[in-house]
Amino acid sequence: ANQSTGKLKDHLYKILVIGDVGTGKTSIIKRYVHRFFTQHYRATIGVDFALKVINWDENTLIRLQLWDIAGQERFGNMTRVYYKEAVGAFIVFDVTRKETFDSVVNWKADLDSKVQFPDGSKIPCVLLGNKCDRQKEGIVASPSKMEEYCREHDFNAWFETSAKDNINIDEAARCLVEKILACD
Ligand code: GTP
Ligand code: MG
Repeated sequence: ANQSTGKLKDHLYKILVIGDVGTGKTSIIKRYVHRFFTQHYRATIGVDFALKVINWDENTLIRLQLWDIAGQERFGNMTRVYYKEAVGAFIVFDVTRKETFDSVVNWKADLDSKVQFPDGSKIPCVLLGNKCDRQKEGIVASPSKMEEYCREHDFNAWFETSAKDNINIDEAARCLVEKILACD
């Protein structure tokens, strides 16, 4: 996905956004791409798409094709199709609901079993603890434990985010893009 026109590099990256129902995947994408938030919940059906264009530096344009996958798809059999040729992923949980954190390992295992680079290595993956504008529950309240968790489970990094208050979403995306560029 690298077309050179003169000195300008143009990258197109397919990014997955996965995690349990209602954790805020769609809200994070809406905030990141459209600068918008709503309290109103409408479940994603199947998959939605969004495109974010980043002027990374004076020589580099990056297009992120964001695949917003419905939380209920973990119990379906389409994820193999959706994950195909992705080069990065966010796994999202809800810091107020511990059960959504417990599911993270299942999402990560599903991801790593279904998508790898041609050399067999794992694609970059960043963990997002969303709704950090609210009261946290479980180990997400302990940054040192979260760091250990990320090492153990092969996450490149983790961030607490809020789609509502626009916390850490640009930072998390920048971090994932940096990891992807390092693999490219
Ligand atoms: P599925 O499409 O069913 O998988 O859910 P989703 O992960 O896309 O969740 P969605 O973005 O639709 O958000 C679910 C609910 O959480 C909505 O009512 C949002 O308004 C709310 N929400 C999302 N992000 C935040 C946040 O950062 N803070 C707060 N307080 N609420 C949020
Ligand atoms: Mg959704």
